[in-house]
Amino acid sequence: MTEIRTPRLLLRRWQEDDLVPMSEIHADPEVMRWIADGSTRDLEQTADAIERWEEEWDDEGFGLFAVELLGSGELIGFTGLSVPDFLPEVLPAVEIGWRLGRPFWGQGYASEAAHAALEFALQDRGLDRVVSICQPGNRASENVMRKLGMTLQRETVHPAYAHALHVYEIDLTEYVG
Ligand SMILES: CC(C)(COP(=O)(O)OP(=O)(O)OC[C@H]1O[C@@H](n2cnc3c(N)ncnc32)[C@H](O)[C@@H]1OP(=O)(O)O)[C@@H](O)C(=O)NCCC(=O)NCCS
Repeated sequence: MTEIRTPRLLLRRWQEDDLVPMSEIHADPEVMRWIADGSTRDLEQTADAIERWEEEWDDEGFGLFAVELLGSGELIGFTGLSVPDFLPEVLPAVEIGWRLGRPFWGQGYASEAAHAALEFALQDRGLDRVVSICQPGNRASENVMRKLGMTLQRETVHPAYAHALHVYEIDLTEYVG
């Protein structure tokens, strides 16, 4: 099952008309501030990213869900699972992550989608452990991790960009939703 409904959201695979709204999200420096080297991404880079995300779905049977508002059908960003290849020291691992457009922050959407994605990881994919990785200054993201019941496991450094990273983890065998 690669479509999930929550009270307010639809989590689904990517489609062609997601490209423009997702590239608008990627063009916002506030959204990208804590991601990789903090640079924004253009339309072409977003198209490449969506292609990679879809490949991960095909290869792994999990991936980043496009997240749509049930009321309006608007794409608000992504939440979901990926393999954190950028941080070899935590591998093998599956990471849960999120990236929403700024107008959609502060309304509980990230947490709502992330709870559904964790349930997908456990019930659909049978994963028993999921990590989440952020820069220590990204308090909004760390807040979502804590609300999911994740705990800080490791403090390390980004191999490519040399900034600090926090690695959170949850044992899904003890996940209560
Ligand atoms: C990280 C990110 C997804 C967090 O989004 P968010 O909207 O702050 O997260 P939440 O969904 O948990 O919502 C937060 C607040 O919404 C408020 N809220 C409003 N209505 C709500 C509702 N119905 N249910 C729950 N919370 C609600 C709450 O006050 C909550 O804050 P609290 O947990 O301190 O009480 C967002 O900041 C983002 O996209 N950032 C840029 C990309 C990024 O950095 N990604 C992570 C890289 S590691």
